[in-house]
Amino acid sequence: MLSDTMRSFGKNACIIREISAYGAARSAQIGAENVFDFSIGNPNLPAPPAVRETLVRLLTEMDPVALHAYTPAVGLPAVRQAVAGYITETYDFPVTMDSLYITEGASTALAMVFHAVCQEGDEVILFAPYFTEYPVFVRAAGAKSVDVPCTEPDFQIDFNAFQAALSDKTAAVVVNSPNNPSGVVLEEATLRRLCAILQEKEREVGHPIYLISDEPYRDLVYDEDVTVPYLPAYYDDTFVCYSYSKNLSIPGERLGYLLVSPRMRDWQEVFAACAGAARTMGYICTSSLFQHLLPACLTERVDLTVYRTNRDLLYGALTEYGFTVAKPSGAFYLFVKSPEPDAFAFYEKAKSREILLVPSDDFGYPGYVRVSYCVDTDKIRRALPGFKALAESYGL
Ligand SMILES: Cc1ncc(COP(=O)(O)O)c(C=O)c1O
Repeated sequence: MLSDTMRSFGKNACIIREISAYGAARSAQIGAENVFDFSIGNPNLPAPPAVRETLVRLLTEMDPVALHAYTPAVGLPAVRQAVAGYITETYDFPVTMDSLYITEGASTALAMVFHAVCQEGDEVILFAPYFTEYPVFVRAAGAKSVDVPCTEPDFQIDFNAFQAALSDKTAAVVVNSPNNPSGVVLEEATLRRLCAILQEKEREVGHPIYLISDEPYRDLVYDEDVTVPYLPAYYDDTFVCYSYSKNLSIPGERLGYLLVSPRMRDWQEVFAACAGAARTMGYICTSSLFQHLLPACLTERVDLTVYRTNRDLLYGALTEYGFTVAKPSGAFYLFVKSPEPDAFAFYEKAKSREILLVPSDDFGYPGYVRVSYCVDTDKIRRALPGFKALAESYGL
């Protein structure tokens, strides 16, 4: 029998992809240069040259049978070893390859963890605004997501709301910093407080409450005085879901990892549950070619100066025009308060000026729009008069 749940997930597709598809169709009609599509978080920068050079070397020098073979489900030992060395050195947090599962990006890592640590009826706390797919992954794992809206205007954690949401059913809490869709980085003091509350709650309820750190934007930070604390060092029951999609500009290649903190009680059992979850979801292994590439590219990054320029340009202009914008330190998004309560109405008005934004309802936080600035800087410059006219139309 057809699954109603799966059918509804498939039919109610992510709004971002819908808007982006509209952008492509509209570009075909009136020319791409006339459409200002800020909808999708698809990096516009080329991968660092080392990615291409390594691919060429692998394709010319390596035995093709070995290069394209299935790998162990957890990933190639040499690759896990290299990632473990990178984490140990970069974050001063010792891990071995036994804690690492090489995944198809952060999405797979997240889905594996939810399936591994949730039982029917469990709850997962999401700090809103959040990545649109979290509730889908949580529900697919049989759990229920509980939204906790952030504080304004700093977009940190609302601890009163958080403590009210915690219960003996809470299996996990997800943090994402730098954040999609706000670009905000959570402060160290905020994270310390979060971890202290979780430790106390774990003692009270007598079971682990896992902290899931979703980190596709960890390395996309533009302010020198901003750091992204490494959560496994603060809280033992932590998972890290990392992705190379954005920092290497290879989102279509599907590469990331799941770290199960070795400080977690029974971490080998937890790791086994994550591996079991991957197995049930049909993940055999991620791209062998890109696994082989990774050790040579671990310290490579896209040209962050372009994103920084875009951030400064757009944030500066939109605030000057009178829009209220969350202060973005990382990722490549701005979260802009809709000048009218209905963000869809604002989205439609922007659309009538060929500016495509994403209304924030699907991020669990109505009343805003997300602007993805991983687009050509020139396009941003040419979109500014449209943003200005929009602001004026609201009397900002
Ligand atoms: C917050 C967040 N988490 C996870 C993902 C999934 O990324 P990946 O390509 O690594 O699966 C994204 C992608 O945009 C994201 O923004």
